[in-house]
Amino acid sequence: MEPIILNHPLIEHKLTILRDKTTGTKAFREIAGEIATFLCYEALKDAELNEVEIETPITKMKAKVLNEDKYAFVPILRAGMSMVDGLLNVIPNAKIGHIGMYRNEETLMPIEYYFKVPKDIENREVILLDPMLATGGTGVDAIAQIKKRGVKKIKFLSIIAAPEGIEKITKTHPDVQIYCAALDEHLNDVGYIVPGLGDAGDRIYGTK
Ligand code: URA
Repeated sequence: MEPIILNHPLIEHKLTILRDKTTGTKAFREIAGEIATFLCYEALKDAELNEVEIETPITKMKAKVLNEDKYAFVPILRAGMSMVDGLLNVIPNAKIGHIGMYRNEETLMPIEYYFKVPKDIENREVILLDPMLATGGTGVDAIAQIKKRGVKKIKFLSIIAAPEGIEKITKTHPDVQIYCAALDEHLNDVGYIVPGLGDAGDRIYGTK
C-alpha cells in the first residue's frame, strides 16, 4: 500500500519547528501531539459511522456517530507516547496498549521488552504510533506481534518516515496503511533519518 503523506502548509510549518534543534522539550511535545491529531484525522477518513436519531433545537434528524469502542492506540515506547494525547483529543474512549522496544545500537535490530494491549484487541482497529519510521525494524516486529493477537486492521502513524522504513513495512506487511507527515531523504550510517529531527525520545523527554 502506498504511504499517505500529509500535504498541508500547517503541517509544513509545525514540522519546521519540530526539526529545529533550538526547539525545547515543551514546544516539541506540544507540536508532536498536534501533528498526531492531524494524522489521526487522516487515518480515520474511512471510519464507519452508526446512525442515531437526535433532536436539534429545530427538528428531529438522523445523525452519524463514531463507534469509539472500535479502536486501540498502541504507542511504541518511548517516543510513541508523544502522540497518544493528540489522538485521544479526537477519540477519547479509545483503549491504549504499549509496546516497549529499543534498538540495539550496533545491529540496529529491535528488541522487545514490554507488551501490554487491551484484552479485546482482536475486535479493534489498531493504530500503531511511532514518530520516527527509520529502518522499519521496530515497526515490522510491532505489527507482527499485534497480528499474532488476531488483529485484522492495523494503521501505522509516524511523524517523519525514511524511504527505507516505508519499503520495509510495505514489503513485509502490505496490508498495513502508513500515514506520515513527512517523507525524508534517507538514513545516515547510524540509522538516523536525514534531515529528520534527531532522536525523538531525547527531544521529547529532554534526556540529552
Ligand atoms: N529514531 C529517532 O528518534 N530518530 C531518528 O532519526 C531515527 C530513529
